This record gives sequence, C-alpha cells and structure tokens, in this order.
Amino acid sequence: QQTLGTLGKKAGLRIGTAVNMDALADDAPYRARVAGEFTSVTAENVMKWEAVEPRRGTYDWAAADELVDFAGKNRQLVRGHTLVWHSQLPAWLTEDAFTADELREILHRHVTEQVTHFKGRIWQWDVVNEAFNEDGTLRDSIWLRKLGPGYIADAFRWAHEADPKARLFINDYNIEGVNAKSDALYDLVSRLRKQRVPVHGVGIQGHLGVQYGAPHDIADNMLRFDELGLETAITEADVRIPMPADSTELEAQAEGYAVMLRGCLLTPGCNAFTLWGFTDTYSWVPDTFPGEGAANVLDEDYAPKPAYGTLRQTLTLA
Ligand code: G3I
Repeated sequence: QQTLGTLGKKAGLRIGTAVNMDALADDAPYRARVAGEFTSVTAENVMKWEAVEPRRGTYDWAAADELVDFAGKNRQLVRGHTLVWHSQLPAWLTEDAFTADELREILHRHVTEQVTHFKGRIWQWDVVNEAFNEDGTLRDSIWLRKLGPGYIADAFRWAHEADPKARLFINDYNIEGVNAKSDALYDLVSRLRKQRVPVHGVGIQGHLGVQYGAPHDIADNMLRFDELGLETAITEADVRIPMPADSTELEAQAEGYAVMLRGCLLTPGCNAFTLWGFTDTYSWVPDTFPGEGAANVLDEDYAPKPAYGTLRQTLTLA
C-alpha cells in the first residue's frame, strides 16, 4: 500500500508531520512511521527559541540537528518552525530586562543565527507565527509592544539575508476560512509584497474541532493568496474531538481533514500538507483543551481512523 507521502508526491505536494523528538528516540514504531509515511517534517518543539538558546548566547542545536539529519537520511524536506513568536521564549528573554534597541538587536541576532545554522537545509521557514488576534488586529506581544509592527518586515528581511533560498512563511491559526483574521493577514501580505519584503508563503495551521464544523470556504481563502503570487501550505492539521469520540465524530473529523486537504489540492501554489502529529499517543490537545483529544489520524495503537483513509482517498483521486 502506498504511503501518504507517495500519494502526495503524485498530487504535487509534500505530506508532512510534526515530530516529537522524545518519541522519535524512544518509540520504534513511531520512528518507522515518520520515516516511511511522510515526505516532509516539522519540529514540534525543538526549533523554538526556548529550545535553541536556553541561556543567552549559548545555543543548543543538538535536537534540531538530529531531526534535520533524520530528514536528510529519509529524503524528506524540513519546515522550520518557528523564528518569531510570542510563546515558548527563553526565560531570560523578558520585556523588562531589555530596551527596545537591545530587543531589536536580540531578535536580529536570533533570526540570523538560526537561519544561518540551518542554511541550505530548511525548505520553508515559519518566520513569523501567530501575529494576529481574531479580530484582525496585531497581537499584543513583546515584539509589537517594544518594536512596533515593523518587526514583521524586519524578520523576513533578516531571514532572507541569512538564507536567500529558503521559502519564508507567515503562519497562523483560525485563518482557514475567510474571516477578519485571514482578511487582515491578506492585507498585510499584500502590503509586504508591494514593499518587496521577501515573504513567500502563507501557512494555515489547520487546528480544527469537530464541534465547530469544517471551513468549507478554505479554497476561496487560499486562492486569494495564490493570486498574490504566494505559496501556501497547511502547516499543523489536526481535528480534535470532545472525549470520548463516537463514530459520528470520527466521520466529522475525517471530513475536517478532507476539507483542508481539498483546499490545498484546489490551490495551485499549495505545496505542503503537514499533520500536527499523526498518532493520538502524542498530542498537545488534551493538555490545552481538557476533555478533548483523539485529534490525529491514527489512534494510540497506530491503527488508522477514518481520517487516514479519507486522506488517502482524497490524494488518490487528485
Ligand atoms: O520542555 C519542557 C520539559 O523540560 C518538561 O519536562 C515538560 C514537562 O511538561 O514540559 C516541556 O515543555 C513542554 C513543551 O511542549 C515541550 O515538550 C510544554 O510544557 C508544553 O506546553 C509544550 O507544548 C507545545 C505547545 O506548542 C507550546 O506552545 C506543544 O508540544 C506543541 O504541539 C505546540 O505547538 C503549537 C505550534 O508550535 C504553534 N501553533 C499551535 C500549536 C499547538 O499549540
């Protein structure tokens, strides 16, 4: 039976997964599936700032390098996640400890060091992650407060200088459909393109929940980014369920995954569809949404759920 990755290649896109490095080290069936099923990988946590620079000026690339090496051995591409975010910052990086000028220099150095370290080995970088609020205003983060909205363009310019070949993405959640947040992102990337800021793609995370329905206007939304000349990707797909999951909910989950995959297939510039993990054994969902879970396409015994078959079917028809 062909893998998701093989079926995806025929349809012109990479099928990826977020990778939990503890599981990759300790769980052989997990490792075998990461290696065999997918044609791209994303670090679930080990490329985040708190992981790579736990003490100021002391970099720890070990875990991230391990993933990039693993991907190389398995002929997979790597999505780099993520350079500029408000979350999972190192403990030393607090707003009170630095002036605006110092923070700007710290951010510049971070982007430059990290992109340079992986130069030539990262296909797509999530340069800026989750910069927007639901109403389309910019998120009130350390970066917006101290540096102003220009931090976004700066981050893209710095990343491009460090690795001119990497494809540079802005990434966010709840932007699957056409709404205030995706409208604001559209306006921002339109302006950045006019200003010749090197932003190449829009990453749509794709964290859905069956109780909210599926974003049936996702192709409309993605196609407008396509028309701007941007690449697109589904970067963190999962579909959570209020526990315990019944068979109707598993069908609804499959539909959620399929709607996102079809959105990507209908969009010429969509070149990657990444699952935010593939087994319910390792999922961020129950910690963040108590009482919800079962968000992935394989269950805790690695048995396929309806969503897995639906993704295969959708790729086969493409
Ligand atoms: O690193 C510590 C470790 O030292 C400690 O022993 C352990 C005990 O709980 O915690 C570890 O930190 C955890 C970290 O993952 C690394 O495993 C945090 O508690 C935990 O909160 C953190 O969760 C991650 C979350 O981002 C944090 O924001 C999830 O694994 C990860 O899936 C999730 O991913 C995000 C994307 O980056 C951006 N989009 C949303 C997505 C889901 O929240």
